[in-house]
Amino acid sequence: MARRIVVLPGDGIGPEVAAPAIEVLNAVAPGELEFEEHVFGGASIDAHGVALTDQTLAACRGADAVLLAAVGGPKWDSTDPSRPRPEQGLLGLRKGLGLFANLRPVRPVPALYDASPLKHEVIDRTDLLVVRELTGGIYFGEKTRDEDSASDACVYTRAEIERIARVAFGAARSRVSSVDKANVLETSRLWREVVRQVHGAEFPNIELEHVLVDNAAMRLVAAPRHFDVILTENMFGDILSDEAAMLTGSIGMLPSASLGGDGPGLFEPVHGSAPDIAGNGEANPLAMFLSGALMLRHGLSLGEQAAAVESAVDRALAGGLRTKDLGGDATTAEATQVVLNHL
Ligand code: NAD
Ligand code: IPM
Ligand code: MN
Repeated sequence: MARRIVVLPGDGIGPEVAAPAIEVLNAVAPGELEFEEHVFGGASIDAHGVALTDQTLAACRGADAVLLAAVGGPKWDSTDPSRPRPEQGLLGLRKGLGLFANLRPVRPVPALYDASPLKHEVIDRTDLLVVRELTGGIYFGEKTRDEDSASDACVYTRAEIERIARVAFGAARSRVSSVDKANVLETSRLWREVVRQVHGAEFPNIELEHVLVDNAAMRLVAAPRHFDVILTENMFGDILSDEAAMLTGSIGMLPSASLGGDGPGLFEPVHGSAPDIAGNGEANPLAMFLSGALMLRHGLSLGEQAAAVESAVDRALAGGLRTKDLGGDATTAEATQVVLNHL
């Protein structure tokens, strides 16, 4: 029976990279996947007044996997807290599906070393995984706003830290670098304590180090090869993963998988809706293709097909494929065709 995938193209370049990803997935698993599209984010605000409708959330819950492109854009940007925002849809979906574990693999391919602003010898053989806590912390704490002040509460419970720590240690080959700000934040001191306990009790054979987030940001570009798994809380993970993306040459290369609920996983590129290039047909679709590969592997247990997509992307790049963000002039459509040819 075909697997049911809810596709949420979203806004900006979202639909421009979602459509080719469906083509690639259909090519690698013909007849095995059934796609059902729903408006989401800003497009859903325009159509229904909210970024994520109950029907869309229910459809996602009932699917085998959710493939999301990107949301947001200047049309819906506002500093008025009473206005709906596209990003609320994304946060509601992550929370609604219980997806507390966001995995962001960063594996620069040698063919793209030239596209990175960093030196070859710095990025060479980097192969790291950011494990970002996705449903807690400052993103989800209570918010207040009045005329003269505003606040965002950052809260973590022991149980939330334990479960994400287990994911990180479970994914590590040699070392977990737990990133926090324990010299300042109470949540970070609890984080450090709980991570240390989980390590001692369950994963003594994995090396554990604690790194302060400012230092981690520096080391990520100074010596990225040092890292195996970076375990961190929601906002630090958001920021560090965009930084890590530049090791691969472009944010347009980085996929992610969000897991941990008892229903489907969510698969989406790390990049946003790129309003500055939306509509030009020049978006790099590779992060979206690679997110599709993560969906095949982690969401649908189609590991062979996942590897086929990843290999086609690698060979396309080795053959010289470069979209604009990578310093070339291939359009989204051309990049898609090259990857399809390699499949
Ligand atoms: P962005 O990731 O959309 O863009 C940052 C820069 O990277 C831009 O110059 C953009 O052109 C470039 N870029 C991003 N993806 C690219 C791709 N696939 N190919 C080529 N170039 C690419 O971040 P931003 O500009 O800060 O945010 C724009 C909007 O996207 C905001 O509304 C933000 O909230 C939203 N956003 C959404 C998601 C998501 O849906 N998961 C993630 C990040 C940002
Ligand atoms: C990401 C994005 C989102 C986040 C925004 C759009 C809410 O930046 O997926 O990295 O901060 O998690
Ligand atoms: Mn982000």
